Amino acid sequence: MTGAEESSSGRGSLPVYFDEDANLDLLDDIVSIIGYGNQGRAQALNLRDSGVDVIVGNVRDQYWETAASDGFEVLEIREAVKRARFVMILIPDEVQPEVLEKSVLPVMTRNKILCFASGYNITFGQVTLPDDFDTILVAPRMIGVGVRDAYENDRGFYAFIGVHNNSSGMAMQYAMAISKGIGATKPSGALLEVTFRQEAELDLFNEQCFGPAFGQVLTTAVDVAVEAGYPPEAVLVEIYMSGELAYTMEKIAKMGTLKQLELHSPTSQYGSMSRGIRYANPELREQMQKSLGEIQDGSFAEEFAKEYELDLEILDDMKEMAQDVPIVVLDKEVRKKLRFRSDK
Ligand code: NAI
Repeated sequence: MTGAEESSSGRGSLPVYFDEDANLDLLDDIVSIIGYGNQGRAQALNLRDSGVDVIVGNVRDQYWETAASDGFEVLEIREAVKRARFVMILIPDEVQPEVLEKSVLPVMTRNKILCFASGYNITFGQVTLPDDFDTILVAPRMIGVGVRDAYENDRGFYAFIGVHNNSSGMAMQYAMAISKGIGATKPSGALLEVTFRQEAELDLFNEQCFGPAFGQVLTTAVDVAVEAGYPPEAVLVEIYMSGELAYTMEKIAKMGTLKQLELHSPTSQYGSMSRGIRYANPELREQMQKSLGEIQDGSFAEEFAKEYELDLEILDDMKEMAQDVPIVVLDKEVRKKLRFRSDK
């Protein structure tokens, strides 16, 4: 753990690593990117631009074509795993168990390194791995296009890294090397060492607690303002459609929650700080704890595995029903009226 800086908050001792801790020279053999979607394409391009020898393993679909047209050698997954020392699993979590069992694990040998971008399948027991090769985690806290965009602009990003099996004794060094190759440790980026379980549970917590609770807050605010008689077009623009909210969130990430307040007027600062406490809601905390409990005890993963077996039937129904929710209907009408263009 040389070079790791420990958190100074006093709340824990999470090791954090930076560019100088990572050694790109460790990636001195072929890296196989399995899957060429959101993360796969971005990470493959970044690693290649970092000077690493990259090939792609994919099924024969349109992603295969994209990888080939980006100039990569593309092979069937099994062949790509055989050829490489570093194998990066960048296909959706729900298809990983089958692909691993059929095309990856039979050809994983002792000196190879298996790298995941999500701790989900290992944490919730969807896959069990032998411990005779290294299994590591490099999970960017950034969507794929952001991973590529950051690299091209010489910016880093945060990534969670971790070790599940350390058969070589070098697993954490390999995780850092891969992180450096994909550009995470460029300026403003850092690597946070977590367990596979912490990564998987926090990711689900964000998706199932913060995200939907925030959605409810947004919907409630729209309802209250529209019911009070304000023009819906003005309400949607005011609350989220202008993009100001996204801009503010970016400032919160860059400056911190309190410091970014300074970008707003004194009226705004006084109003939001003096009224903020009204929305502190004990029930919200309880509901989040309930969802977190279902994540931690594995019942969500079990529920989702059943849903996946049913071809995501419930998810499709929920998406269908959501089409009629008032804010969704209103959103479509307002977008049309304001000549919204998604490409601009
Ligand atoms: P994706 O949905 O973009 O993956 C598409 C790729 O998966 C394509 O190459 C496609 O050919 C392949 N694929 C799809 N079904 C397949 C099957 N049945 N058999 C073999 N290959 C199949 O995946 P994404 O979003 O890039 O996620 C990859 C991994 O990265 C996941 O573990 C995810 O949790 C993790 N991750 C994703 C982030 C994101 O921003 N999307 C952020 C951080 C981690």
